[in-house]
Amino acid sequence: MNTEIREEIFKQAKKWVLEAGETIRTKINEPYEIDVKSNANDLVTTLDKDTEFFFATNIKSVYPDHHLLSEEGYGEDLTTLDGTVWIIDPIDGTMNFVHQKKHFAISIGIYQDGIGEIGLIYDVMADVLYHAKKNEGAYKNNAKLAPLNQNLKFEEVIFGLNHFWLCENRLVDEHSMQKFVKKIRGARTYGSAALELAYVAEGIMDGYLSMSLSAWDVAAGIVIVNEVGGITSNIDGEQINMLKKNSILTCNAAIQRNIIDNYLIKKRK
Ligand code: 2AM
Ligand code: CA
Repeated sequence: MNTEIREEIFKQAKKWVLEAGETIRTKINEPYEIDVKSNANDLVTTLDKDTEFFFATNIKSVYPDHHLLSEEGYGEDLTTLDGTVWIIDPIDGTMNFVHQKKHFAISIGIYQDGIGEIGLIYDVMADVLYHAKKNEGAYKNNAKLAPLNQNLKFEEVIFGLNHFWLCENRLVDEHSMQKFVKKIRGARTYGSAALELAYVAEGIMDGYLSMSLSAWDVAAGIVIVNEVGGITSNIDGEQINMLKKNSILTCNAAIQRNIIDNYLIKKRK
């Protein structure tokens, strides 16, 4: 993507993100409907849907040739990532939104022909915006984020992961995951994959692992972490496919190799 075009799209996206965040802060204490989706803990509210609608209508009106891949139904059923694709989660961490009224984020990744060009993760209640543009570094508000430490001792890392994967589950051997969390210094579960990836970029966590996430949970975070020298793959070490669900492993290259080789035993793909 041409740098000037990218800058123009970034400024527009940032303006919309801040505006959507302001609306959410205004409406968070008003009554809203809560529905469940794939299971009783997979929540969606009218604010998730309204926020996605806001982005969908704005993108369609300003960039009619761009595409949208998103969680709540206003996006397209894409079969390729050709062209400019906005990958949006209007509220990542909906359970936090409902129960805690904080610790959720608007997550927007903008990809050109499958390549991540722009990432924006907005912690709405904290009013903290993480962003990155390809080859231009990553930022927390206006502060540039430092490159990740590539020489961490495995015993000293803190990793983000959901405790699901330590309990009996269908995707990964829980005993291998238990061995992993016993080996490292600490594990954290924040309940928003987007924020957890932002924390990895910030260097306050050293990695993030999940067995099943959608493109909109990770599209922005991958761009941001990439700019500080972190890598993201699935748990086989392969590139993430934005058109389907993936397992996700984000950290530095040495830690990634160690985890894949020694701590992950899949139950099925
Ligand atoms: P969401 O809040 O947008 O649904 C929680 O650990 C993280 O996993 C959140 O980023 C959440 O995104 C994501 N997630 C993906 N699929 C989920 C599901 N079926 N149920 C709950 N959280 C899910
Ligand atoms: Ca969501």
